Formats: sequence, C-alpha cells, structure tokens
Amino acid sequence: MEKRNERRVILFPLPLQGCINPMLQLAKILFTRGFSITIIHTRFNAPKSSDHPLFTFLQIPDGLSEAETQSRDVLLQLTLLNDNCENPFRECLAELIKPSSDSGTEERRISCLIDDSGWVFTQSVAESFNLPRFVLCAYKFSFFLGHLLVPQLRREGFLPVPDSEAEDLVPVFPPLRKKDLSRIMGTRAQSEPLDAYLHKILEATKPASGIIVLSCEELDQDSLYESHKVFSFPIFPIGPFHIHDVPASSSSLFEPDQSCVPWLDKQETRSVMYVSLGSIASLSESDFLEIACGLRNTNQSFLWVVRPGSVRGRDWIESLPSGFMESLEGKGKIVRWAPQLDVLAHRATGGFLTHNGWNSTLESICEGVPMICLPFVWDQLLNARFISEVWRIGIHLEGRIERREIERAVTRLMVESEGDEIRGRIKVLRDEVRRSVKQGGSSSRSSDELVDRILSF
Ligand code: UDX
Repeated sequence: MEKRNERRVILFPLPLQGCINPMLQLAKILFTRGFSITIIHTRFNAPKSSDHPLFTFLQIPDGLSEAETQSRDVLLQLTLLNDNCENPFRECLAELIKPSSDSGTEERRISCLIDDSGWVFTQSVAESFNLPRFVLCAYKFSFFLGHLLVPQLRREGFLPVPDSEAEDLVPVFPPLRKKDLSRIMGTRAQSEPLDAYLHKILEATKPASGIIVLSCEELDQDSLYESHKVFSFPIFPIGPFHIHDVPASSSSLFEPDQSCVPWLDKQETRSVMYVSLGSIASLSESDFLEIACGLRNTNQSFLWVVRPGSVRGRDWIESLPSGFMESLEGKGKIVRWAPQLDVLAHRATGGFLTHNGWNSTLESICEGVPMICLPFVWDQLLNARFISEVWRIGIHLEGRIERREIERAVTRLMVESEGDEIRGRIKVLRDEVRRSVKQGGSSSRSSDELVDRILSF
C-alpha cells in the first residue's frame, strides 16, 4: 500500500447493489493508492460500514417512504432519490468542506467527488463548492454512450419497430437489434420520465472532470475510441475493479449464505450450474417454475439464488411442487443470497445462468465461467449480445422462459462439445482482461493516470 497522501476523496454511490459494489471497490483501489475515503450514502440500502473500518461513512436522509423503498420501479426510485437528496447532500458536503479551526485541516483537504452517472444534481452542487467531480460509469461503456442516444432515437420515430425489421441491427448501437433496443426504450408510460432522466444525465456528465469506467480497453475498445466525439474530458477505463490488487471485503447488502462453498466442495469439477438474476430482477411464478423444472430435467447439479420476494406474489420458494428438492437427490441447492465471487471462483462451478448485470458479467469473465444469458432489462440486453455474438462466450436464451429451452441451453453448455469451445474462448478473454490490471496493462496505466489527475487538483 502507498503512503497516505493526505488527500481525501468523497464517493457517493447510488443505493443499488449493482452500484454500491463497484463504488466500494473503487474506494479500495484509491485507498491503496494513498487517498483517505469518505462515503456519503443514503439511508435506503445503506452499505455496511463495519465491513470497511478504514473508510468514513456519512448517512444522509433520502425521504423515501417504506412503500417507495419496496417499489419494483427503479426509475421511479431514482427520480425520487434525485429529488429528495439534493439538499441533504449539499449540507453534508458543506460540512465536510468547511474550513476547520482544529489542526486537522490537512485531513480535510478534499480532492474530488466521485459519484454515479445516475445522480443528476451532484455536478451543480460540486461546482458550487469548486470541487472537481468524476462520474462513475458502472455499465459497459458502449451501453453508457448508446443509452444517451435513446431520447434522440425516440424523437426520430424509432418506435414502433415493424416486425419485418425486428432482427435488423441498430447502426448507432451495435450489436443491438431493433427488437433489443425497443425493450430498452421502455413502455409508452416510461418514455417521458426516462428521456427526461437521460437528458439530465448527459447534461450533468458533460461538465465533469472525467469518467471512471468499470471496463477496460480489452472489452470496450471501440466505444472508448468513439467517446472523444461526445466528451472532451479524459476517460479512465480502470476496470474490472474487483480484480485489482486490493484487500478483499464484502459490500453485500444481504447476508451471503456461506454454506454454498462447503456444498460446492463436495461437487465434481465444473459440474455445477450457478443461477442468479442479480439484486433487482423479479420473476412471475410460472417463469420461476419453468426455470425450476428446466434445471431439474438437465440432471446437472445447480446452485440457485432466489432472493426473498423475487418471485412475484410469493415470499420465497413455497410455490415449488411438493417433493421438488427431495427429487433432486442432493444435486440442487437453493439459497437466498450467495457469496457470488467465491462461487464463480470455485472449481466446481461450470456455468452461470445470469441476467447479465454488468457486475455479474465481469465477474464471470474474470473467472472464465461461460454464461447462459437471460437478460431482463436495460444494459443486460446489450451485455447478452456481446456475450453471445461478439465474444461468443455464452448462449443467449431468447423469447419465453420455457423449461425445454433451459434444459437445452444447460446441456449445450455443460455437456456438449459446443461448451468446450465456449470455455476455450472465455479463458482467452479472462486472461486478457486479468492482464489489463497487472503492471503495464491498460487498466493499470489508466489507474495511474487517474491518480495523477486527482493529485493535480
Ligand atoms: C443493476 C442492474 O440491474 C444491472 O443491469 C446493471 O448492470 C448494474 O446495476 P444488478 O441487477 O444487481 O445490477 O446486477 P449486477 O450488476 O450483476 O450486480 C449484482 C451484484 O450482486 C454482483 O456484484 C454480484 O456479485 C452480487 N451478488 C449477486 C451477490 O453477491 N450474491 C448473489 O447472490 C447475487
């Protein structure tokens, strides 16, 4: 670890698991480079400060009601959070920046703010304190660039997409097809709030001091090259963050079930299908049952994360047919939340049926675990296209969730020779991506540039 440089960086994650993980990983990277760390966070989905004793945590009120914290409408939650948090955030920052009468002035020397692109008021707050702000892009960078074009595409009459054009590629957003993009653009009711939000994200990003990207040149070369047409500031692709040489610690909002690892220890090498749909996606009861039966029918072992409440209308897994678990004869395990990084790194894990959130996608690539893609919304559709069509390191499940489709995909990946070819390709990509964070690699060089830039303020 480098010597403390007496500079402090303030980080402000969006309160979603998929945003908290990369922000805390970034905090660890900056901490090992000598910066002191303050995390400002909302009450909703507050990170566990006890897991990070070397950082300072400051909670601000977010004004969400109990019902709003339970909402499945993430766009609504983000809109409310942006409306409610501006003043508390400003007050919190003012307190941190205020000159101190005690001798700890050096300790208070704040270099910059880093927050998620989804916070749209922070740029103007940071400017009012003359504080440089970096935007964290926790998506694949090609998605970040592309999603900012959604309002323009809608204005130009992109929707509705005629059936005859559904499979055509979208020229400004490759390799998405028109049918994929129409799913990203949301329902008619979502279009106005979504476009307004995306417009604000673009306007709040343009004046920032730079973007820190949870990706690397090996995964995002074309879009990183294109970025200079949109943004005039430096871009720092320093990811994947979790494979940098920093101490391990959890930033899970839920308690991981540690019995997963001893269970995996008892399984044969590369025999287990890991199934997890991240921290937000939910399923109808019938889709849940199709997945359950599809997994059982493969006769492969599986470890399945079913978050409480993620089967709509049910508490947990009570809608499984009676005797379902017994019928698996020990070949299946269902948990509420898993230590995902440990599971993916385990020798017994042979495949990952995933919704393709960007964190899960990167984590799978870094462990060389091939994927079955079941994207639900947003960037997941683009990530699934890269996995199946560009890198060819997984199989894309499209259309209805159906037991025979699941059974077929698992068999192709885990049993047939197609799986060996996919495994071969993901290992090559894994090695390239892992090399990027080693000394001299693209992400490592970019991290050095980021640190120099922060120190230059
Ligand atoms: C959200 C969006 O849905 C996603 O599209 C976007 O790319 C990031 O923000 P989420 O759906 O939670 O994220 O998925 P993902 O990005 O994969 O993040 C989930 C995180 O939770 C991963 O870091 C994963 O390791 C962790 N996790 C998940 C666990 O630790 N245990 C689990 O059981 C499941």
